[in-house]
Amino acid sequence: MITPMKFSGTTFPYWHYVVPAAVLTTCLVVLAAVSLPGRAPLIVLPAMTSRRDSWGSGISNRSCDIFKGEWVPDQGVPAYTNETCPVIHGHYDCMGYGRPDLGFLRWRWRPDGCELAPFDAARFLGAMSGKSVAFVGDSLARNQMHSLVCLLARAEPPVPWTKGGYVYRYERHGFTVADFWSPFLVRAVETDPDGRNPAWRGAGLWRLHLDEPDPGWAAHVGKFDVVVVSAGSWFYRPSLFYERGRLVGCSGCLAANVTDLTLRYSLRLAFRSALRVAVGASRTVVVRTISPSHYENGTRSEDGDCVRTRPLRRGEWEMDVEQKEMHRIQVEEFAAAEAAARGEGVRMLLMDATEAMAMRPDAHPGMYRLWEKERFRVSRDCLHWCLPGAMDTCNDMLLHLLIG
Ligand SMILES: *[C@@H]1O[C@H](CO)[C@@H](O)[C@H](O)[C@H]1NC(C)=O
Ligand SMILES: *[C@@H]1O[C@H](CO)[C@@H](O)[C@H](O)[C@H]1NC(C)=O
Ligand SMILES: *[C@@H]1O[C@H](CO)[C@@H](O)[C@H](O)[C@H]1NC(C)=O
Ligand SMILES: *[C@@H]1O[C@H](CO)[C@@H](O)[C@H](O)[C@H]1NC(C)=O
Repeated sequence: MITPMKFSGTTFPYWHYVVPAAVLTTCLVVLAAVSLPGRAPLIVLPAMTSRRDSWGSGISNRSCDIFKGEWVPDQGVPAYTNETCPVIHGHYDCMGYGRPDLGFLRWRWRPDGCELAPFDAARFLGAMSGKSVAFVGDSLARNQMHSLVCLLARAEPPVPWTKGGYVYRYERHGFTVADFWSPFLVRAVETDPDGRNPAWRGAGLWRLHLDEPDPGWAAHVGKFDVVVVSAGSWFYRPSLFYERGRLVGCSGCLAANVTDLTLRYSLRLAFRSALRVAVGASRTVVVRTISPSHYENGTRSEDGDCVRTRPLRRGEWEMDVEQKEMHRIQVEEFAAAEAAARGEGVRMLLMDATEAMAMRPDAHPGMYRLWEKERFRVSRDCLHWCLPGAMDTCNDMLLHLLIG
């Protein structure tokens, strides 16, 4: 039984990374200004043999659906480790935090009827030379962005080459990857953050302006060639829904005079608004579907954990009804945006990674992660993904979609 994450009673650990859009813009400008030739990074990657290099051509089968398949054993060496990639944040640095069994690294995603070529950093940077990619969304979007940064570092270490960055530049290739923190995609304001209303204690209550894309990313996205949008986890939080500035309903707000329209409503409209802006601003828009959490024997806010040591096989898992609906809503909103964008010269790509990720209850940090006890009650993380690990497969998929 796979339960969705619930946020009641905990503070989500990413607030302290929120960088105002102005700062991010400044970073981009500063980084562009310091991109002098010959600025050699101080850290040199050791030579490693890897399955990720040994595949060469990477045969792809155009008629094959890369999102349907299964995880098969793989004896290869991971493309990077906690020693070779310093950008891995403590929240998903499972090796660095002592995860004893590294068996979760010995699997690869095999689509039915073809192979998904493993990530080829030189090929990606070559094809994306002079371009930029923005990840927009929650901490899982950042998880994927850091995976991409580590994978690409095999061809060229980025600047900066340190933990926790929002923007990384591969100067030699003129490639930039950035992350925009926007867990609801739309403008969101936290009210009652101190939990004065007992119904919302500790969880805050969010005001979501469902028809207003978050300007923190929306104002900048036009500068990026590719925008990868993903979100989902934060929609479980109690929130009030606004459209044209008027309260239209809520999710989990427990107010007698406000209709609970559920997170299905907010998720749908948030994606609709976000895709409208992304399609209008960027040349390529990628939507990554939800990445399910795997709390078992409890929930996120109680004592749930994830202690499995191997992936599930087909038929061994089933997402709960809510997760299935969230996935369906994302696919539907993607299809609607794609139809509306036809003839506009925008490339729309669906990264339907949900099934592959749902089969990886073994690949979350669990207890092997940075845990700031005084700030976060829950010590087990069954939501984010260990790096290196299963999230790297999402970037194999990204490469396939963009240039495969
Ligand atoms: C990487 O992980 C290993 C194994 O847990 C640990 O001994 C080492 O100190 C870590 N290195 C860094 C740089 O975190
Ligand atoms: C390509 O994929 C299809 C459907 O998955 C399969 O039937 C076919 O045999 C594959 N072709 C090759 C060359 O792998
Ligand atoms: C809901 O009811 C409360 C108490 O009667 C009132 O203070 C509040 O303004 C109402 N909210 C709306 C949106 O009508
Ligand atoms: C759930 O709890 C039972 C009993 O404590 C334990 O045997 C089992 O391994 C746990 N399962 C998972 C997936 O954590």
